[in-house]
Amino acid sequence: MCSDPVLSVRDLRIQIGRQAVVDGLSFDVMSGERICLLGASGSGKSFTANAVLGLLPPAATVQGSIRLHGREIIATPAARRINETRVAMVFQDSLSALNPLASIGSQLCEPFIRHHGLSRKKATAAAVALLEAMKLHDPERLVKRTPAELSGGQRQRVCIALAMACKTSLMVADEPTTALDVVTQAQVLRALREHTDAARTALLFITHDLHAAAQLCQRAVIIERGEMIESGPLDALITAPKHRFTRELVAAAHSVQPSLARPAEALPEYTPHDLLQSA
Ligand SMILES: Nc1ncnc2c1ncn2[C@@H]1O[C@H](COP(=O)(O)OP(=O)(O)O)[C@@H](O)[C@H]1O
Ligand SMILES: [Mg+2]
Repeated sequence: MCSDPVLSVRDLRIQIGRQAVVDGLSFDVMSGERICLLGASGSGKSFTANAVLGLLPPAATVQGSIRLHGREIIATPAARRINETRVAMVFQDSLSALNPLASIGSQLCEPFIRHHGLSRKKATAAAVALLEAMKLHDPERLVKRTPAELSGGQRQRVCIALAMACKTSLMVADEPTTALDVVTQAQVLRALREHTDAARTALLFITHDLHAAAQLCQRAVIIERGEMIESGPLDALITAPKHRFTRELVAAAHSVQPSLARPAEALPEYTPHDLLQSA
């Protein structure tokens, strides 16, 4: 991992009217690093994610600094971002993230055509190869279907493929596994881990789920009521949590699953990055 921050958030404060929903948040995401923003429901995680993505609602006022590769983006909405400051995103609700009327293939082809200048034929081949790399069965048939014809887990892996096809240096995933059963959650987390590793994409993973974070992330920023209360390597936070809320989070996670499993560092050979490089 190199030492350049892809993302630097400093003193981020977001208000809705007079209420501060994020208050003085600062953290960095380094190149190729996976970091989680962990907190209870209502702690300000999605407002933070949306500020990074440039998707805050008009009612929100924002202060502080959000830099992507050193460029200030806090006041630039997603639609006005230039290529270098685009951030790929994966949301909790895969059904509403995709166009219900368009086929999976046409949606996946779009970034290859729009951002990488491929012909439709080459873009379709790249889309099929990406779905195959996501371990989705029979991708040639899958690309002809619409989102409603897929399971939740298949759809979320399509969303990850779509985010990867954008070839950004940072991806933000806001509770991407929360709506899924545990087996499907594991598949989606694995897809995220393998693909961000292969492409060296940095990931800001938003979750309230310590188990999910432990399977994916190297570092964590823990927030409570919009403020950071603790941060550091996830292993250290799990074995020696300092703040009361972090201790409660770890105790609750242990009571559900006694050993908080961390993934083996050795990851299988995978080639979506090569695929994207050659696209
Ligand atoms: N439109 C709104 N007006 C005022 N407060 C809001 C609005 N939307 C959300 N909030 C409040 O902002 C806080 C943070 O919300 P959010 O970032 O969605 O939390 P999280 O993603 O951590 O569950 C919550 O306490 C919520 O009640
Ligand atoms: Mg949220």
